[in-house]
Amino acid sequence: MTVHFIGAGPGAPDLLTLRGRDLIAACPVCLYAGSLVPEAILGHCPKGARIVNTASMSLDEIVAEIIAADDAGQDIARLHSGDVSVWSAMGEQIRRLRSAGVPVSVTPGVPSFSAAAAALGTELTLPGLAQSVVLTRTPGRASSMPEGETLTNFAATGATLAIHLSIQNLEAVIRDLTPAYGTDCPVAVVYRASWPDERIVRGTLADIATRLDAAISRTALILVGPALAGEGFEESCLYAADYDRRYRPQTADSPWATWSHGDD
Ligand SMILES: C[S@@+](CC[C@H](N)C(=O)[O-])C[C@H]1O[C@@H](n2cnc3c(N)ncnc32)[C@H](O)[C@@H]1O
Repeated sequence: MTVHFIGAGPGAPDLLTLRGRDLIAACPVCLYAGSLVPEAILGHCPKGARIVNTASMSLDEIVAEIIAADDAGQDIARLHSGDVSVWSAMGEQIRRLRSAGVPVSVTPGVPSFSAAAAALGTELTLPGLAQSVVLTRTPGRASSMPEGETLTNFAATGATLAIHLSIQNLEAVIRDLTPAYGTDCPVAVVYRASWPDERIVRGTLADIATRLDAAISRTALILVGPALAGEGFEESCLYAADYDRRYRPQTADSPWATWSHGDD
């Protein structure tokens, strides 16, 4: 039997992969992280499935629930919000399950930073402005940050920052980023991207705090960096008319002129 870790996406029920949907439909047991996984996704569970909200459970209890299902010969769908590769607590579950000899599979999901960028209609890597995206967070009650992973260090790169789990630390975020990015650096806060009550607040490091209201106190991403302006960037070479490339050789002498798909 297998435990299928599945990224349930950022909120909209149709932002679930087909593979995730089919696995959910095939598993008689479904454990889901109730605080952020949309209930509508549970509609894919088979009739009579055992559906458990793990929001209030400890790791010991979750693992016990999984092992009980495994002992009963049942496959398990384990749902986490967004993608499972970031801030899902999948790592500690998989470590326990592997040592208990329980087989595991992982199915990715749409991460919240992608849903937030989609809501903004923005590419986060714009030529000449930013070519890296840093997925990060600030320290929380339950999690400290490894030494070196500070906002000031990331700010020194000038990359686009997607800051998770930090809307309540906005003041510290602004304080730490302003010296490197400047007060006029664009910021976007996306609350509950892809949910029906999604909200977008745009501003700069100077004024974003005054533009937000108390309703945006959780489940929000703070995106910071020059790319958020969506202007002042170069065009990429990729589609430039005179750019010599594999799929569009410019001359008979091009190294790509004799290339065919079979060479790859
Ligand atoms: C525990 S982390 C889960 C991250 C998730 N695994 C992912 O792939 O995005 C929760 C944080 O992700 C962000 N988040 C998750 N869903 C979101 C959404 N729909 N809109 C905006 N931010 C979201 C927020 O910063 C929230 O505090």
